[in-house]
Amino acid sequence: SHADGAAPPDTADLTRLRRAAADCTGCGLYRAATQTIFGEGPRRSEVLVAGEQPGDQEDRQGKPFVGPAGRLLDEALAEAGFDREAMYVTNVVKHFKFTERGKRRIHEKPSRAEVVACRPWLVGELRAVRPRLLLLLGATAAQSVYGTAFRITRRRGEPMAPPEEFAGLFDIGVATVHPSSVLRAPDRETARAEFIADLRAAREK
Ligand code: URA
Repeated sequence: SHADGAAPPDTADLTRLRRAAADCTGCGLYRAATQTIFGEGPRRSEVLVAGEQPGDQEDRQGKPFVGPAGRLLDEALAEAGFDREAMYVTNVVKHFKFTERGKRRIHEKPSRAEVVACRPWLVGELRAVRPRLLLLLGATAAQSVYGTAFRITRRRGEPMAPPEEFAGLFDIGVATVHPSSVLRAPDRETARAEFIADLRAAREK
């Protein structure tokens, strides 16, 4: 095959991209993680949802958003009128980054270098799917596309044109909080309602 271990093959074929991503050594995260968690969903989805990185459950099961954050995401999407089955769901970083504490594996935020190393895979997925709407969950996802100066607190729920490097890959970008932040929020009901309101606003764009 064509994989050089760090860069996606020049193709918009999701099956080929997924196979190549399984062998990615573009940053160090592949060493400790169980497997690459590539995106999933119909090839021509209207909506592409991107989170930060797979968590413990995702790393074990090989699929994005299947743990606690995924359950909250599924409920929130449904309440906002989206159908997860019709959406392409992925992460901007495709390996689980963690530290071990006893038997537990604690999520660690990916570095900027890791986000940048993984970005060509997201670009490949966008080239394949060509969604109308790109939904970015959390600061890491939003900053992968819109740059490190991007602030969710200021721009959440707002429709945005793609930045120059992503021109033609999607029509409208919308960033909101990460579902994990809703799970951790002191006022969980309010955080959940605000998350759903952003999703609903995005759906109407
Ligand atoms: N958090 C994410 O950002 N992505 C997942 O797939 C799971 C949890």
